Formats: sequence, structure tokens, C-alpha cells
Amino acid sequence: MSVSHDDLLALLQARHSCREFAPRPLETGMLEALEAAFSQAPQAGGARHLACTFITDADTIRELADAGRRAFAGLCNEIPSAFAREETRRYGENFFWFADAPALAVVTCRKPPAFLRVAMGDKAALLWGGELSGAMAAFALLLAAQTLGLGACCLTGPLIVWREMETRLAIPKHDNLVLLAALGHRKDKT
Ligand SMILES: Cc1cc2nc3c(=O)[nH]c(=O)nc-3n(C[C@H](O)[C@H](O)[C@H](O)COP(=O)(O)O)c2cc1C
Repeated sequence: MSVSHDDLLALLQARHSCREFAPRPLETGMLEALEAAFSQAPQAGGARHLACTFITDADTIRELADAGRRAFAGLCNEIPSAFAREETRRYGENFFWFADAPALAVVTCRKPPAFLRVAMGDKAALLWGGELSGAMAAFALLLAAQTLGLGACCLTGPLIVWREMETRLAIPKHDNLVLLAALGHRKDKT
């Protein structure tokens, strides 16, 4: 293992969220390289309950962001208190900007098994660790994106309308959507 602490620190320091992308697709092999980093992360129970799939079709990404924005507007409109409605609307301002991202990583994990849900109720997810494993793997993916010269941004905001997102992304009933990550070449690097 030849990675020095200084190199690791430099990589961590260089990584910053990117929210504006050049209109340019990822080069061949980049998604495979990101997936390779994702799959090296530790997973709770040593299991393989995580999945990362990539969307690169521009129309599909735009439709997902637009559908999320619409569902979020509907959710806000149903909030009776004007104050809470406005707060929620403001809270969601940074959730659906990813319409123009050249690629979107979709991270899912298997739901906790029935026996754990019976034993632990709502806390089963803590022991199962699916979401936390997803977060660790997503961080590996973000760092890999940095090494490839790509910009990236982790997104859990869109999960505010998780039913809409899971339906549109055709997430199987036995899985949870953990997060999305927008990916592409940074706009300032064209
Ligand atoms: C779990 C997680 C969820 C995030 N969700 C969003 C999001 O929905 N929208 C967004 O614009 N940024 C999102 N971010 C990016 C953070 O805002 C960003 O990481 C933070 O402001 C620190 O900036 P940096 O990544 O440039 O260091 C998320 C980050 C994490 C770790």
C-alpha cells in the first residue's frame, strides 16, 4: 500500500461539491472506475446489500429532477401553516438543481430483514447499517470522482419526495433509496 497520509489529506482537501457541470459526457471507463471505488468500501455485516447504478441519459435525469421539483411543490402546497410552508420551500431550494448533470449515481441498500424489524422496530436500520454503508461507499465514489478530475455532489435532499423518486427510479420494494450523486466535468474546467 503506497498511498501516503499527505496524499490522502491532499485528496480530501481537494474534494469540494460541484453543482455546475460542463455539457460533456464522462469518458469511457469512468463509470466503471467509480463503481470499483464504491464497491471497495466497508459494508455492515460484510454483506453485499448495496447497489450503485448510473444514469447517463440526459432526458431521464432532467425528467427525474423536474418530477421531484413538481412533487416537492405539491408537498409544500399541502402544508397548512404559511410559516412552515415557506420554511419547507426554502429548505428545498438546493434539492433539484441536478437536471443538467451528465451522470447520476443512484445508491440503494436492501431493507433490514423481517426478523430484525420484529426485534428492533424502527431502530432495525441502525443495526442493519444499510444507509451508513451507502454513505461510506458514496464517499469512496466522491473521492474517486476527484481522482478522475470529475466534479460530484452527494444528494439526499431529493429524498424529501422519496416515493416519487423511488417510483421513477423503479427501486425494488425490498430496497431503500439511500442517496443520489450528481457527476460530471466541472463547468469551470471546460
Ligand atoms: C449526505 C449528504 C447529503 C447532501 N445532500 C445535498 C443536497 O440535497 N443538495 C445539495 O446541493 N448538496 C447536498 N450535499 C452536499 C453538501 O451540501 C456539501 O457536502 C457541504 O455543503 C460541504 O461542502 P463540500 O462538499 O464542498 O465540502 C449533501 C452532502 C451530504 C454528505
